[in-house]
Amino acid sequence: MPPISLTAKERAMLLGTATQALQRAYAPYSNFHVGAAILTEDGHLFTGCNVENASYGLTICAERVAIFNAVQQTQGKLKLRAVAVVNRDQAPCSPCGACRQVIAEFGEHTVVVFKGRKDYIEMSIADLLPESFRLS
Ligand code: THU
Repeated sequence: MPPISLTAKERAMLLGTATQALQRAYAPYSNFHVGAAILTEDGHLFTGCNVENASYGLTICAERVAIFNAVQQTQGKLKLRAVAVVNRDQAPCSPCGACRQVIAEFGEHTVVVFKGRKDYIEMSIADLLPESFRLS
């Protein structure tokens, strides 16, 4: 099944929701505030923000906070349709490698929307992370 691109309405809704989520970021070290919104295959929305730590390596990205929140709320049955990520600085920002692997776990055909150098870019997770790790 190829990735199904988002409608303009879905995309605007996801970007707006992610922008609200970034208001909750805890990023006193980098001061880079990030928000993520995810859409499940059955139309539910979940959000996340980045959460940093004085022990820098313990920081977690907005995308993974949103996904782990959704896994909990869907009793482990999460199927991703789309992930949108925004930052307060409007800086180009695609998901990091760790987040790409986590996105791939919950949907091989997930559409990812992120800020490119000019506009927002929409790409499938398969294109962002070819040959993601799988145990089977
Ligand atoms: N960050 C995210 O939350 N998502 C991304 O896609 C890239 C980076 C966060 C992690 C850290 O809190 C801050 O941005 C700077 O790296």
